[in-house]
Amino acid sequence: MVEDISRIPEHVAIILDGNGRWAKAKGMPRNYGHMQGAKAVEDILVDARDMGIKYLTVYAFSTENWNRPETEVTALMTLLRQYLKSSIKKSMKNNVRCRVIGERSRLSKDINDAITELEDATKDNTGLTFTIAINYGSRDEILRAVRKIAGECADGKVKAEDITEEMIAKNLDTCYLPDPDLLIRTCGEQRLSNFLLWQCAYTEFYYTDIAWPDFDRKELEKACEAYAGRNRKFGGLKDAEDKA
Ligand code: IPE
Ligand code: IPE
Ligand code: MG
Repeated sequence: MVEDISRIPEHVAIILDGNGRWAKAKGMPRNYGHMQGAKAVEDILVDARDMGIKYLTVYAFSTENWNRPETEVTALMTLLRQYLKSSIKKSMKNNVRCRVIGERSRLSKDINDAITELEDATKDNTGLTFTIAINYGSRDEILRAVRKIAGECADGKVKAEDITEEMIAKNLDTCYLPDPDLLIRTCGEQRLSNFLLWQCAYTEFYYTDIAWPDFDRKELEKACEAYAGRNRKFGGLKDAEDKA
């Protein structure tokens, strides 16, 4: 348990990895791992809220995940569709505001409709803000932002020399979110895989060998304890002994 509430990360982002390996180790198909992974997301959402985390962002499907076999992509889309639909009731009960980041035109119409419905229904909830990254790639997100700003420059609305970091951040899908304080990746991999490249400039990283379907409140607490012990400096000097 993190004793000092001020040391609880405000925004936790998670690269949920290892569903396939977890299932394989049990002699089960990969999709079984994805199904258990979706359940783990539901549980961790409530745990995060109870622990005082304000923003939780999870990487559910990357722009590169289309490269997986068609059967797996279809199964993941089916699962996402179900997840989005079943989330409305649970989010209303738990006072969770749900948002989706990522490029939507490649998603089917019914998934787009389910996203809009979930976002609209939960928009006034004041508890935790839960963001799901679907067909999300950070480079794609930055590219879309650059195109938008370039368009405004071409229209004469913005001058190139007036472009600021804030303007770029406001044109990203994550415009409504503070930068993540803590990024967790499960199942032993230590890479970003195109997740929140801009936003993670000063994020603390935490890796665990636990596969995503086994990640529970105890593991989240461990990650938050590790975070609470970090000395975030943002390029400056934080501790008195550093400055002495
Ligand atoms: C994470 O689990 C979920 C998604 C990327 C959709 P994986 O499917 O990547 O599981 P591994 O890494 O193959 O074990
Ligand atoms: C990252 O996991 C994407 C998601 C968790 C949605 P991957 O399993 O796709 O990443 P790589 O291929 O190991 O880098
Ligand atoms: Mg993986």
